Parts: sequence; C-alpha cells; structure tokens
Amino acid sequence: MATSKKNQLIGLDIGSHSIKLVEIEHGKKGPVLKNLGIMGLPHEAIFEGSIKEPEIVSSAVRNLFRNLRVKNKNVATSVSGFSVIVKKITLDSQAESTLEATIQEEAEQYVPFDMAEVNLDFDILPTEEAGGDGSTQMDIMLVAAKKDVVESYAGLLVMAGLNPAVIDVDVFALQNAFELIDPSSKGSHALVNVGAEELGINMLKDGVALFTRDSSYGGAQLTRALMREFDVSFEDAEKIKLGGKQVEGGDKRLEKIFKDAVSEWSNEIKRALDFVASTHPGQTFDAIHLSGGSSRIPGFAEYLETMTKIPVKRFNPFAALAVNEKAMDPAYLDYMSPQSAVAVGLALRSIGDK
Ligand SMILES: Nc1ncnc2c1ncn2[C@@H]1O[C@H](COP(=O)(O)OP(=O)(O)OP(=O)(O)O)[C@@H](O)[C@H]1O
Ligand SMILES: [Mg+2]
Repeated sequence: MATSKKNQLIGLDIGSHSIKLVEIEHGKKGPVLKNLGIMGLPHEAIFEGSIKEPEIVSSAVRNLFRNLRVKNKNVATSVSGFSVIVKKITLDSQAESTLEATIQEEAEQYVPFDMAEVNLDFDILPTEEAGGDGSTQMDIMLVAAKKDVVESYAGLLVMAGLNPAVIDVDVFALQNAFELIDPSSKGSHALVNVGAEELGINMLKDGVALFTRDSSYGGAQLTRALMREFDVSFEDAEKIKLGGKQVEGGDKRLEKIFKDAVSEWSNEIKRALDFVASTHPGQTFDAIHLSGGSSRIPGFAEYLETMTKIPVKRFNPFAALAVNEKAMDPAYLDYMSPQSAVAVGLALRSIGDK
C-alpha cells in the first residue's frame, strides 16, 4: 500500500451508537496506528441508517477530531443498511465501452428504488470460472446507494469542516481491514460485524466477496428488550447491559435476554451461510471473524461456533499495525479492537479510491 502522505484519509465509521475514528500513517516500516477514538451518540440521532439529527452528529464528529488533535481533514466514511444494495451479477464478457450501459440496464431488476435516486457503482471481479460453452463471462459487483443518504453523510462531514473524500460501504471496509491482517487472501472467510442496529456479513473466497448482507439486528434491539424487562429508559438499559447499573434479580433476566439475541443473530448468520452453500455447492468456510461492539456479548462467539460448526475468531483489525504503546494503552486497544474494524478499513482507503 504505497499511499503517499497527502493521499491518506481519516477513517470515520459513523454508527448509530457511536462514531469511531482511526488514523493510520504509512511509515517506512509499514502501517502505524496513529490515532484512535470513539464518541457516543445520543439515542436515535441516527436511526435506520439515516441521520435524524445532523447538527448533533456533526458536532460529535468535530469534537472527536478536536479531542484527538487530528489535523488531516480528508475523510473516508461509509454507509450501510437498506439504502445500499450490493449484488454480484454475471454478464457475458464485453468491452468496457458497452459495460456501463449493460450494467445500468441489469441493475434495474435488483435495485428497489428509482434508478434516478441512486448512485450506481461497480467493480469487475476476478472471474471464478469461464463459461462451459467457450463463451467467457465476467463477474461484477454492483453497488447502488441511495443518493439522499450518501449526500446526508457527506453533508454532515462538510458541516463539521471536513472533506468527504471517499464514501464506502461498511461490509467492504470490513473486507479491506481483513486484507491487511490476512494479505495472502487465501481460503474462505466469513466476516461478521454486529453493531447497534445492523448485522453486516461479507463472505470472502480467496479475497473476493461471494456474498454480502446487512440485516436489521444488533445491540440496540437488546437494549430495547432490557427497557421493557426493567421498565427503564434507553440510556439506563444500556448501562444495565454493560454492567454499569445493578438491578434486582438482574443477572438471570439479563442472561436470558443476551441468550435470545445471540441465538437470533446466530440463526441469521447460519441462514446466510446456508444460502451461500446452496448457491455455491461445496463451499465451506475456514473461519468466521466476529467484530462490532455487540460481538463483546459473553458467550456469543461460543454459541455461534457450536451452531455453525465453523471456528469463530475475534477480528482484531490492529493485528498488522505498529502501535506506540507509550501513547496507547494496550488494554484499551484490545477492548476497542472488535469495534474498530470498519474504521480501520476506511482509514486504509486513499484519495482517488472509489
Ligand atoms: N461489552 C459489551 N457487551 C454488550 N454489548 C456491547 C458491549 N460493548 C458495546 N456493546 C454494544 O455494541 C453496540 C455498539 O457497537 P458498534 O459501535 O459496532 O455499533 P455502531 O457502529 O454504532 O452501530 P451500527 O453500525 O449498527 O449503526 C451497542 O449496541 C452497544 O451497547
Ligand atoms: Mg457499525
């Protein structure tokens, strides 16, 4: 990754629960983690992937940059959820000159929005196999994102005095972070990120995405269940969840709610694995790499492993980064690692990337 200094970007993962910032410097000896920070957002400032409170979110972004003394104003961020459609399609091989028009036409059947309302993008993937009858085919990764959502994320950054240089997609940022820790790109890996409102999946075979999905599951769902169970506010329920607030008979009731969520999420992940197995016969996975704040829930990894019979690993996006341990507490880094995967992937982007 020979990124020159002026092309480097700040990775900013704007999630519904919190904003994660990662700065990576490409030094002579390789990438260095220069900055890391997180800023919580008030409940429902971002809801269902759309920004409800732009002023609040942009001032949180501004504060994060200020607290961490980040100088670089060029930012890579990402969108996710129902406003982003990612679809792998196969087309007859053709010249680039006709490709764009073909893709535009093909995309209409997969995109549930008016085509005028989306930004359409695509990547030509390394082909899995040539067509049997001699005709060659090409695999295309199609990405359509709702324009208003992309513009609201870009607008938010502008409001915070920043330059939105790259707007990526969460599951691709995750893939980008994984490539750094596993540059061989060999084997089949399922990347799973469980945040507050979204569960993102990206299944890779030899470094190429086979399948991606975003589902509306996550830790906020659990917080809402705790609100009902203990008749408390969202904020108090969040405290109970993280062990910061004790309630009468809390442990048992909490355990049950954790268990239900973990089993529901594991089912969703299993469904996605089964779907891939049905469309790619014989496809198995070497490991599931779990990230996102909600991956910290006790017993989640073990449950998922038992259910899928696939080894589940904790995704540590910092594994291949040099760290100045004098400036960053190793225990804090370890705690933050699963929650920082998307932000690390974004920080690895550079100006000019799509
Ligand atoms: N130790 C923990 N135990 C249980 N849940 C946790 C823990 N730490 C964080 N969480 C939960 O993780 C979620 C936040 O994770 P993350 O930062 O990945 O989400 P986000 O990116 O803000 O949200 P999204 O991408 O879904 O919009 C919250 O629901 C939070 O309560
Ligand atoms: Mg997230």
